[in-house]
Amino acid sequence: EKENKALFIIFGGSGDLARRKLYPSLFRLYLNGVLKKDFAVIGTSRREWPDEYYENIVMDSIKEVNGATDENTQSFVKHFFYQSNDVNDVEHFHILKQRASKIAQKFNVNGPWIYYLAMAPTLFGTIAKNLARSDFLDSNHPNRLVIEKPFGHDFDSAKELNDEIKQAFSEDDIYRIDHYLGKEIVQNIVPLRFANPILKEVWNNKFISNIQITLTEEVGVEQRAGYYENSGALRDMVQNHISQIITLLTMEEPLSLNPKDFVNNKYQVLASINNFSKEELKNNFVRGQYRAGNGFLGYREEEGVSDDSKIETFAAGKFVIQNNILNGVPIYFRTGKRLKQKQSRVDVVFKSKKDGIYSEAQSDVLSILIDPVSGYRLKYNGKSIGDNRNLDQFSGERILKDAEHHQMPEAYQRLVHDVLNGDKTNFVQWQELSASWKLIDQIIGFWNEAPLSDEFFYEAGSMGPKSANELVARDQNYWVYQG
Ligand code: BG6
Repeated sequence: EKENKALFIIFGGSGDLARRKLYPSLFRLYLNGVLKKDFAVIGTSRREWPDEYYENIVMDSIKEVNGATDENTQSFVKHFFYQSNDVNDVEHFHILKQRASKIAQKFNVNGPWIYYLAMAPTLFGTIAKNLARSDFLDSNHPNRLVIEKPFGHDFDSAKELNDEIKQAFSEDDIYRIDHYLGKEIVQNIVPLRFANPILKEVWNNKFISNIQITLTEEVGVEQRAGYYENSGALRDMVQNHISQIITLLTMEEPLSLNPKDFVNNKYQVLASINNFSKEELKNNFVRGQYRAGNGFLGYREEEGVSDDSKIETFAAGKFVIQNNILNGVPIYFRTGKRLKQKQSRVDVVFKSKKDGIYSEAQSDVLSILIDPVSGYRLKYNGKSIGDNRNLDQFSGERILKDAEHHQMPEAYQRLVHDVLNGDKTNFVQWQELSASWKLIDQIIGFWNEAPLSDEFFYEAGSMGPKSANELVARDQNYWVYQG
């Protein structure tokens, strides 16, 4: 691997995200040589800590990484420093800047400075502004801002936040993370579609009946009620991950793989989903909340959740996009907590041909399996084995083996590597983000006014409200994945 030189400044350096995802990812990049000698990391948060204390936090978070030894963890944490910082106080940024310059010099960092905001989004704007005010950004190295979700609470707050950070950073230098875009199988949707004539030629409304995106989880709200009570499934999963997966599945072939062409075509998809009518809002979207069942607490009984919470822990729906290939094809989605099984997958259902010599043939289905099983499965028709002429449905699959799973970089690792390389292909641009918020706002606005349906509460450990099945059944379709 080519060595990358960079200085990371991590806001929220003691937080959960940094510990669980970021430090292990940086360490893996270190183990495979992407980060070698000329890099340094400054963690900041409000608390006063000595460097050693911070080193221990980092050490602790990487010790489980495959390949970690005493020696390499020790040498890795030598690149880490800590600086307490009150993000509201511009003076602190001046101090941080001085320290950063010294550290950058010491480590010979001849590369970008990467500001990673792994903390409460309410402070994103302030941090960006103070970085600009304290001359971080006028130096002659590239400056890149990495932002985690949630990016806003609705369109208005997202726009406000964006306007704030745009005062300091240009769109080209802003990297909005959606970790689904870092997943191996998600990154293979586009090659699958456009590198294979046998798929490319049938990937249109003449051949595809419907597309289904399923992101179900077995876990409940865990320790995150404080966040989730203000979010819910639509904001937590649909505004970002599901919208992004939809764009990859339905975008027209871009002129090139360069990020501008690529991202622009993704945006076109979201922009083509027009305003929903009242009828559509009522019929095309389903919400639910888990109640106690199968030994699990109900959502309202979870710690930190109000006992009359109306937050949806399940959402399903139907989008119809308009473009030259998939006009009118229903794109169904469903996602939720405390469902039967963890499953992230896409099922592409092809139209069955009723007019030829095999009118009984069933739909071909291509399943793109993201997690926890990763791979592809094709269901197709063939002659039933034996002395007959009946049709049977067969299934051919390629499931990634454990060894291959091992080779797959973790989503965050890949995305951080992209930031180092300045490659924006797998990040979310503002236009896409604003288009998806506009859709989500309409649904939430409608839900806020509408009474909860009788089927709002679904049993923990089930497949969610029955109305999600009715949603597809109304179009004479069915969910391929039944749990
Ligand atoms: C996050 C959500 O964005 O994605 C979580 O905030 C969710 O609520 C998670 O659990 C799911 O990601 P993955 O990679 O485990 O499917």
